[in-house]
Amino acid sequence: MANATAGVVSLHGTGMCAGARDMVRLGTVRCCYRARRWDPVTCAAPSGSVTEDVVSKPRRLPRVVGMGSKLIACGSAVPKFEISNDDLAKIVETSDEWISVRTGIRKRRVLTGEESLKGLAVAAGKKALAMAQVEPDEIDLVILCTSTPNDLFGTGAQVHTALGCKNAWAFDATAACSGFLVGLVTATRFIKGGGYQNVLVIGADCLSRHVDWTDRGTCILFGDGAGAVLVQATAAEDDGFLGFDIHSDGQGYRHLNAKTSEGGTEEVISNTNGSTNFPPKKPAFSFIQMNGKEVFRFAVRCVPQSIEASLEEAALTSSNIDWLLLHQANRRIIDAVATRLQIPAEKVISNLANYGNTSAASIPLALDEAVRGGKVKGGDIIAASGFGAGLTWGSAIMRWQ
Ligand code: ACO
Repeated sequence: MANATAGVVSLHGTGMCAGARDMVRLGTVRCCYRARRWDPVTCAAPSGSVTEDVVSKPRRLPRVVGMGSKLIACGSAVPKFEISNDDLAKIVETSDEWISVRTGIRKRRVLTGEESLKGLAVAAGKKALAMAQVEPDEIDLVILCTSTPNDLFGTGAQVHTALGCKNAWAFDATAACSGFLVGLVTATRFIKGGGYQNVLVIGADCLSRHVDWTDRGTCILFGDGAGAVLVQATAAEDDGFLGFDIHSDGQGYRHLNAKTSEGGTEEVISNTNGSTNFPPKKPAFSFIQMNGKEVFRFAVRCVPQSIEASLEEAALTSSNIDWLLLHQANRRIIDAVATRLQIPAEKVISNLANYGNTSAASIPLALDEAVRGGKVKGGDIIAASGFGAGLTWGSAIMRWQ
């Protein structure tokens, strides 16, 4: 962020600079791509600029370009119903010993009865707002990171309405177990480039609805939950998001997916015109299918690389990290990444044993427990990394408060 000059502009668009390279002009804002960040160089509106002629109703949000952002609060929620490894051993041929040795998981929570993904997301969001002492109507954007919405078209808008965030808009972000990282990066971009003040990022998933409970290779891994953080604008020099790195690779899709029948072996329908596959059938998603060994290899190879890239952007080394907070998928993955980065076990945050893999919820859920448990304190540097289906993976180096 060195050399960056922040300022207020009256740009009608968002002021975000996505999609361009090197040096671009966006209305009155010149942005330059440095170290994978869009740093504003000049934000003064030249006289006679086209924006001076634009007449639109006053915006509630100022267009401030170049703001920093910080994590100021968190919250989480999990379903009531708990299933231990011994409980699972009554359903599939497995044992507490096999599961805990291979994964580190001992129990997980599963949605039942009237509970819903939306309900968990709202409960987690409320707790984050309460911790932040920010009113719902001060929220500008709610990002619901989930692969398992209540509705095909997304659940984010229902969540922001239920939270009473009447000045916010919302959308769903889907990137499996990397979803929360994607939401965080997106939140900081809306603050940095769009002048947003408060963005609520909620990771929530209920993969229990998508596992085959007769498949011991997958059903032992997953649980349901939600976690939320409030990302708030701050002065550029106080930016608490120090480095990011994010990737996807569709070639690895075959190793982890829950796909629709589209393009599959379903019955071919011919209509009177002889065209096939019309009218379309309603697609049904398969259960989660996973090549555990390949996913394991991918995670232990790509996650340390990603964290190292984020550290480089932050101009830090692993010795500066106070807490390593990885997506809670498997204890052996977490240990392997910590070893590779030379981070001692006492700096690793993990609650995997109690909740299993809660996908997009796992990072904010573990963060919330660590904050409320007094482990993570103001000023601590956290290296977080998500990885999973897509394949997708990414990391962030961020300061707590
Ligand atoms: N209980 C007992 N035995 C089992 C179980 C079980 N639950 N599951 C598999 N086995 C058996 C297998 O049948 C196999 O038996 P065999 O040798 O007689 O054929 C043996 O145990 C070894 O099976 P593997 O699948 O090779 O076991 P592995 O050591 O690879 O461990 C595991 C499996 C735990 C799934 C591991 O591969 C893993 O954790 N991979 C990463 C998974 C992961 O992190 N996924 C993230 C998903 S994130 C997202 O985006 C959804």
